[in-house]
Amino acid sequence: MMTQKIGIGRAHSKIILIGEHSVVYGYSAIALPLKNIEVVCQVQASEAPLTINIDDPLSTAVLAALEFLDRSDQNISVKIESNVPAKRGMGSSAAVAIAAIRAVFDYFDQPLSILDLEMLANQAEIIAHENPSGLDAKTCLSDTAIKFIRNLGFSEMAIDLGACLVIADTGIHGHTREAVAKVRELEEKALPYLHHLGNLANAIEVGILAKDLSVIGQAMNRAHQELDRLGVSSPEANHLVQVAQSRGAMGAKMSGGGLGGCIIALCRNQEQAETLALELEKEGAVNTWIENL
Ligand code: MEV
Repeated sequence: MMTQKIGIGRAHSKIILIGEHSVVYGYSAIALPLKNIEVVCQVQASEAPLTINIDDPLSTAVLAALEFLDRSDQNISVKIESNVPAKRGMGSSAAVAIAAIRAVFDYFDQPLSILDLEMLANQAEIIAHENPSGLDAKTCLSDTAIKFIRNLGFSEMAIDLGACLVIADTGIHGHTREAVAKVRELEEKALPYLHHLGNLANAIEVGILAKDLSVIGQAMNRAHQELDRLGVSSPEANHLVQVAQSRGAMGAKMSGGGLGGCIIALCRNQEQAETLALELEKEGAVNTWIENL
């Protein structure tokens, strides 16, 4: 019996340090890959055609890849194994899309350029997020932290602070599409907040270059205030941010689209990060991760 061909694709997740929402309006953002938090996708032949659900980033990505390869008539099944919690601002939809596109191309033994991969991932993200800035797909495709400006491009950033970032999951599903719509509906009332968020991204970039944790931390605290004023935070995220700030974190903020999802807190070292992670779990975080910065 012939062994059945299996196509495999992987992708990692991401976290936004600064610039969610303001990045949609052309301000710069800084985001980090989370290389140990991964999605793996497997594609196999199947008897029946794939059911496409346009609210699902997996099927929209597979469809985009099949159409690109002119193989929409092929029956395949797709399986995902993911350590990335969905709808928590950790780039799950972009990571799932990238892993799925890679798996489809692998299944058909087709070469896949990074440009085509990013274009197809953003095509799937447009369905999931409506008007994505492209930040999520770009960070899930990057091995280093990046500074990203919509329509202009990105640059790799070397972050070497000897510090740690605690990521804490509120356990509440974020709603990026609704949050982006909420900001858009504020029209010009959103502009001062977005402008301030843009300035804070610049301040964090300067803080990273100068290895100045207090500059970065203070800018994170202010960014959280602005995101809350924009109406995209949540009571659970506000609570965890307040806990982190009052227990010695250098700074803390919500991260990602918001209305749920994760918060991030900057800590001086691993020991402080581990202690804070436990406290955040006691205060309601359903999961925590620690990233070296
Ligand atoms: C979502 O992870 C980040 C947002 O800025 C949306 C986007 O960049 O498309 C909220």
